[in-house]
Amino acid sequence: MRPPLCIAQFDIDPWRAKRQPCRTEAQAYNASRGCTAASHARPRAVPDIREIPLEFQGKIIILTGAAGGIGAALAREFAQRGARLALCDLNAPALNDLAQELGALQMVCDVTVESRIQAVVKEVEVTLGPVDIFFSNAGFSAGEPGHAASAPDRIWQAAWEVHVMAHVYACRAVLPAMLARGQGYLVQMASAAGLLNQIGDAAYSTSKHAAVGFAEALAISHGHEGLKVSVVCPQYVATPMLGYDDPGAAAPLPDVLSPKTAAQRIADAMEEERFLILPHPQVADYMAFKAMEPEKWLAAMRKLRARLMARLGKLDLAQMHKWM
Ligand SMILES: NC(=O)c1ccc[n+]([C@@H]2O[C@H](COP(=O)([O-])OP(=O)(O)OC[C@H]3O[C@@H](n4cnc5c(N)ncnc54)[C@H](O)[C@@H]3O)[C@@H](O)[C@H]2O)c1
Repeated sequence: MRPPLCIAQFDIDPWRAKRQPCRTEAQAYNASRGCTAASHARPRAVPDIREIPLEFQGKIIILTGAAGGIGAALAREFAQRGARLALCDLNAPALNDLAQELGALQMVCDVTVESRIQAVVKEVEVTLGPVDIFFSNAGFSAGEPGHAASAPDRIWQAAWEVHVMAHVYACRAVLPAMLARGQGYLVQMASAAGLLNQIGDAAYSTSKHAAVGFAEALAISHGHEGLKVSVVCPQYVATPMLGYDDPGAAAPLPDVLSPKTAAQRIADAMEEERFLILPHPQVADYMAFKAMEPEKWLAAMRKLRARLMARLGKLDLAQMHKWM
């Protein structure tokens, strides 16, 4: 008899233990196959190098999109853990405030301009030393006016440049030196939209899928050469992208993380040097459901989209996330 399909192939998750009882369709699906939270917890038989925790103390980190939202929370979290930071963003005043607060290096930089990324890396190498971690976090979401291909070309192009090419440029700027040293760590901010989808934003979802693909390619090509790679795929976090402007506020809704909580979970997972970082652990269940039942997953997403349209009349991220 075939063993029941479940999500036991996912690593043990430190947040999984704190999860709510099975409520979602995906969780019910897994439960119907006899897959319980306890059955996920399989000890690894062979310890591997990833179990040696990353030490943030003294690490030189370049972080993009650092001036607000998740980026600013990450900067504070990394600083608290002892890292030496070089912060980049387009928003010069907010960047300056944060850099002053943390005593960090600041560089106004458009991540879509390769020569700027090269210049940032050179300046960091001269001022601080070799780059240990390049965290590509900058991103944006613009939504779409109508059907799934209706966003203008400039939005599709910008999504490609910010969510994918910026990661490629960062990699070109630091990877040769990291490979020569036999160590280095690239962290790429994608999104749960890059594994599942974001209703109402095809350009965002498509480019974030590409970001996940590039991170996988890096890990496959260079994981044996001392390069660590992580791809971060959060669901909703209460940042300006979702219409929240108080970075210190508590999470407004149960499934929406505060930037601080998201940053803590990301830093914890980086200490374990996990490849796939899921600040919302339920995303693993949704991925398993999608992989095992793609037609049912699409039907559930269509139902959710119809419900949102009926309630809100449009698919605006700042409103929509409150009704998911
Ligand atoms: N907030 C969420 O719910 C959520 C969920 C999943 C993934 N993400 C991702 O997390 C990352 C951070 O998002 P956030 O919610 O903090 O958004 P945010 O809008 O609060 O912050 C994004 C930051 O990126 C900067 N930025 C944008 N384009 C840039 C460019 N070309 N060059 C340099 N800096 C640029 C902005 O100035 C801003 O400071 C993004 O990649 C986003 O896609 C966010």
